Amino acid sequence: MKIISVVGARPNFMKVAPIFSAINIKRQLSNLEIEHLVCHTGQHYDERMSKVFFEELELPQPDFYLGVGSGSHTEQTANVMLEFEKVLISEKPDLVIVVGDVNSTIACSLTAVKLGIKVAHVEAGLRSFDRSMPEEINRILTDAISDYLFVTEKSGIDNLNQEGVEKNKIHFVGHVMIDSLINFLPKAESSQILKRYGLSNKNYILVTMHRPSNVDNKENLKELISLLSKLAKKQTIIFPVHPRTRKNLEKFNIRIDKIENLVITDPIGYLDFIWLIKNASLILTDSGGIQEESTYLGVQCVTLRRSTERPITVDEGTNHLVGDDFGMAEKKVINILNGDTKEGKIPDLWDGKASERIVDILIKDFSFSK
Ligand code: UD1
Repeated sequence: MKIISVVGARPNFMKVAPIFSAINIKRQLSNLEIEHLVCHTGQHYDERMSKVFFEELELPQPDFYLGVGSGSHTEQTANVMLEFEKVLISEKPDLVIVVGDVNSTIACSLTAVKLGIKVAHVEAGLRSFDRSMPEEINRILTDAISDYLFVTEKSGIDNLNQEGVEKNKIHFVGHVMIDSLINFLPKAESSQILKRYGLSNKNYILVTMHRPSNVDNKENLKELISLLSKLAKKQTIIFPVHPRTRKNLEKFNIRIDKIENLVITDPIGYLDFIWLIKNASLILTDSGGIQEESTYLGVQCVTLRRSTERPITVDEGTNHLVGDDFGMAEKKVINILNGDTKEGKIPDLWDGKASERIVDILIKDFSFSK
């Protein structure tokens, strides 16, 4: 059995790493012949957005690097497809594994399906019901053409059922990103990041912002920075700045280096970052994955978005969805700092064994179909 797993952007690396190690373990424990190759599309290419994750997550160098880089959505998606098609034609894998919802996810699944190669989508079924988000289009399309849909939370099963997906394609397995969090948390304990920035446990706010809806528009970005300067008066903020956000701050000439109590950094590696999440008093974000990592760790998270495709983090976890209203976000953060917190629980099957379940299902299915 020959498998190619695809990574493209930062949130993909921690999802493929545990699948990679689950396949290795399976191979060692059985006499199954499984060849597993990793293809990096190059959607993210900065050292701090990519290389550091391979090292920290103990992923080997990718077998294929497509070097696609940035561009318009069409350009990026089309370039990934053109390059990935060459890989598929020469390697002829039995299965392509894609994760998440970035442009590389839809590009590679579409290319594989067109060549008659089976596709497994890990983190399937999530829906924000906001089609202005590029990721929502990527999710809907990837799910519609994949053969295996590995779901992280119950809403995913409901969404896929509602879309009329055949039941035997849907597998509720838990969350591979949580597998990585569980695997690497002990290692993160030796992180020096708090010391480096003079932070202490539960005494700082962690901020991440990169959604086009928050950072691509000058007025919104200005409002966001003004919110941060108000919140920094209450507690120190650490804000690792995403390349998209950095580029827009420069383009709109918005200065952030003079705000007191606001620590600005470049993008941060995986181990330091999960340590920052674990020890934060609260998180203000528009990320997808951080809503889930904070729920697993029981850390309060304020999400500056109109909708979430991960509703379990609000229904069962510690996530507070405040819409795109900066005033609401300010109130919520202050209330939380004043003790108005939410008790969460860890969602079903977020137990560190999702990748094992995925690999078991795939192997069983492929053994039967031979
Ligand atoms: C992408 C994903 C988003 C994910 C995010 C995580 C899509 C549609 N979006 O958004 O779902 O949450 O990754 O980070 O796939 N850039 C660099 N260096 C890099 C990568 C990007 O400087 O290594 C800059 C470039 O100017 C680029 C911009 O960031 O134009 C945006 O990158 P892109 O990959 O298009 O989307 P993200 O905003 O990173």
